[in-house]
Amino acid sequence: MKRPATSAAGAALKKPAGKMVSLEFPKGFIWGSATAAYQIEGAAFEGGRTACIWDTFCAQEGKVKNGDNGTTACDHYHRFKEDVKLMKELNLPAYRFSISWSRLLPKGRGEPNPEAIKFYSSLLDELHKNNIKPYATIYHWDLPQCLEDEYGGWLSRKVVDDFEHYAATCFKCFGDRCKAWITFNEPWCSTVLGYANGEMAPGKKEKPETEPYIAAHHIILSHARAVKRYREEFKAKQGGVIGITLNMDWRHPLTEDEGDKAAAQRALDWQLGWFADPIWKGDYPASMRKRCGDRLPSFSEEEKQLIKGTSEFFGLNHYSTAYVAAPKGQAKTVSMWGNVQAGGYFDDQEVELIDDPRWGRSDMDWGVVPWGLKHMCEYIQQEYKPEGGILVTENGCACPDDDVNVAKFDSFRVEFYQGYIAQMHKAIEAGADVRGYFAWSLMDNFEWALGYSKRFGMVHIDYETQKRTPKQSALLISEVAKSNKLTL
Ligand code: NOJ
Repeated sequence: MKRPATSAAGAALKKPAGKMVSLEFPKGFIWGSATAAYQIEGAAFEGGRTACIWDTFCAQEGKVKNGDNGTTACDHYHRFKEDVKLMKELNLPAYRFSISWSRLLPKGRGEPNPEAIKFYSSLLDELHKNNIKPYATIYHWDLPQCLEDEYGGWLSRKVVDDFEHYAATCFKCFGDRCKAWITFNEPWCSTVLGYANGEMAPGKKEKPETEPYIAAHHIILSHARAVKRYREEFKAKQGGVIGITLNMDWRHPLTEDEGDKAAAQRALDWQLGWFADPIWKGDYPASMRKRCGDRLPSFSEEEKQLIKGTSEFFGLNHYSTAYVAAPKGQAKTVSMWGNVQAGGYFDDQEVELIDDPRWGRSDMDWGVVPWGLKHMCEYIQQEYKPEGGILVTENGCACPDDDVNVAKFDSFRVEFYQGYIAQMHKAIEAGADVRGYFAWSLMDNFEWALGYSKRFGMVHIDYETQKRTPKQSALLISEVAKSNKLTL
């Protein structure tokens, strides 16, 4: 079986020959694993759940590899007790999961579904019994299809009221047991991949010059309204924290040239700043406004106030890095899936992304560049100074792990984690206030448009039998979590 070369992950691990090095993390550092509802739950049409936009997207021919869908996935809906037991055995003290909107509110709004309350309550109770701290993501890409049909989902401002109601329902039903909330997971993906290149649900690509910005605008307002509601009605009583998770791979200037530096900054603005600037600074990045003009919706003064200061930690999902150059010819950009497309896919970055051919590559073909995480955390620290610190809410890699006997010895992933965790430690030493790390993912699962063909799990899933088998990487993360140290 073809395995990717492991070159770059080890680069972070230089240590004196024959000596052990122990990298100790600050006391109270949070270690955990992460998943998302559509990717693991299955039971798509059981327990009162109605369709979400991913069910619809998967049903369209040619959208998802091998025609896969999340209808059964890891059958977590029926096997959550076994999965929590696994987390316990692996000594993973925190767990990030997401709630399915169309399970909790089958009509998108209105009264909650008792079977969904029962399911998530049982999951939370099981986590509590096992001393595992839950982190709940409210929206991980699975909008109820009925809201897409009724008013076009994220393209309509109506979604803001519905999201607020959905979030409040989550707080009401589960806030007594869940003390950490993430409103949105990776809104950049929902908007750019959902409305610019159509790689993800709802699969729109007709108006890439406006629709991603409109959808993003409504997501940011929805986030802010949910946080306002949490603070007004629930926070004091329940005593939790609330924030957002954004995805950003590090963008490093190819040279010291001012043009390349400006291009790297544009790449950061157009992905991270797009969402982080309104939340931490009060408005969209100036570079976006300059280029987009009216294509980028505006916040009123009142909305700016509503949005600013609405994340109590900085949730970061981080996977890879690229060098950035000012484009010499036609602008190029690379999607999350690594397929290079000529300008026009997303017209606003005006950057050229370049990989170093010496980097190791995961099964997603993403470069393995541990030092990028250090830069990323330092950048966030400097730029946003998040009061509640930075939580790395996802980091991990896909390996060709179909065969369980190969997967069990996932040395590539072990090196990946060692490299990235070592660099996160360096970032902390350099002053970045990183307070937690969640490995993506607890188990192999439905990797969106790539279906089950890509495996990110620390635990192997046999999709025929649903047998769970921990891989070597699970043992590494378990050891790190137990000792609060990475020993190399
Ligand atoms: C980001 C997403 O949040 C998650 O759903 C996805 O599976 C991983 N990255 C890997 O692509």
